[in-house]
Amino acid sequence: MFPKLEGPISNRMKFQGKEVLTWSINDYLGLANLDEVKAVDAEAAATYGAAYPMGARMMSGHTDFHEQLQNELSAFVNKEAAYLLNFGYQGIMSAIDALVSKDDIIVYDVDCHACIIDGVRLHMGKRFTFQHNDIESLEKNLERATKLAEQQNGGILVISEGVFGMRGEQGKLKEIVELKKKFKFRLLVDDAHGFGTLGATGAGAGEEQGVQDDIDVYFATFAKSLAGIGAFLAADQEIIDYLKYNLRSQMFAKSLPMIYVKGALKRLDMLRSRPELKAKLWENVNALQTGLKERGFDIGTTSSCVTPVYLNGSIPEAMALVKDLRENHSIFCSIVVYPVIPKGLILLRMIPTATHTLEDVAITLDAFSAIRERLENGTYKRLSAAVSAAMNE
Ligand SMILES: Cc1ncc(COP(=O)(O)O)c(C=O)c1O
Repeated sequence: MFPKLEGPISNRMKFQGKEVLTWSINDYLGLANLDEVKAVDAEAAATYGAAYPMGARMMSGHTDFHEQLQNELSAFVNKEAAYLLNFGYQGIMSAIDALVSKDDIIVYDVDCHACIIDGVRLHMGKRFTFQHNDIESLEKNLERATKLAEQQNGGILVISEGVFGMRGEQGKLKEIVELKKKFKFRLLVDDAHGFGTLGATGAGAGEEQGVQDDIDVYFATFAKSLAGIGAFLAADQEIIDYLKYNLRSQMFAKSLPMIYVKGALKRLDMLRSRPELKAKLWENVNALQTGLKERGFDIGTTSSCVTPVYLNGSIPEAMALVKDLRENHSIFCSIVVYPVIPKGLILLRMIPTATHTLEDVAITLDAFSAIRERLENGTYKRLSAAVSAAMNE
């Protein structure tokens, strides 16, 4: 818990004084530690400090560069307009809050990220969940929602994600959009993991699935591919004009500081002008996912860079396994156990980036084979039992 990874953000960092291969950093394109990117951050810090601009966007926190970034982002994701958010989490919560009133109904994927769940919590009206990526379940809930919306003279907001960050599955946006022929609703998509990694230009899951135009409100954060802080919403001009006067987390909070605005402009430029970064990312993703499958690992149904590895074991076994992985194999990746996933399952969640090498992949595959063997031959069970016994003494 609360591990401290030290040193420059990259494929190899320090953990407890020792170099580890890192597979848990969302710096997909490897922008975080590039000299030319850090030079822009440093110049912005020297020119503006950390404070500028002061105040909320509507009041005194607005600049030409905020506008420029919005224009470049909306062009990049092929929408009429965009609006910056100082944090993604609060921003999308406010977007959900602003997009619905009490007579409207929200229908959302049950596996949506915590920020969406919290946004839905702000809603004063009805909400229905649909089973994860289950279009039949969505359709059933849209039928219920449509009846209610007609009675109440309200509308329907459907919410899904471009990529579900735990299991790596893309949201079935194409199928969801197809339902617009049968039902009347607006679609909000959180594309935190898809932006910069999916689609021919990196514009995300909507571009990848050929349905970007049918996403009514598109959200992405700068905290992953853009290796910064901040986020944005993109939509038709009319929607953005409405949102910028109604997003409480932006109207009543300080705007994105210039360091991050200038930094995001540079990173977006890198995204557009350096396609080889995304190509390298995918070379690593493909090598890792193919290698794991060839060795018989269960990587579920990922269709993105997020690479889950599912193993069978208890929580104490998981703890012994991750300790072995970190201390003896020098590999650092996130581990997820019950209650986030069902009891008896261990999920090792890996995030390949453009900074990884094929050698890193090969080392990791060997380490994973070794830990699986120790899990299956009971080594971790014995180790965890010894730890529990020592703790109880
Ligand atoms: C799917 C998803 N949505 C939203 C967020 C929140 O974005 P931010 O870190 O910009 O607050 C995250 C995490 O970063 C995320 O994974």
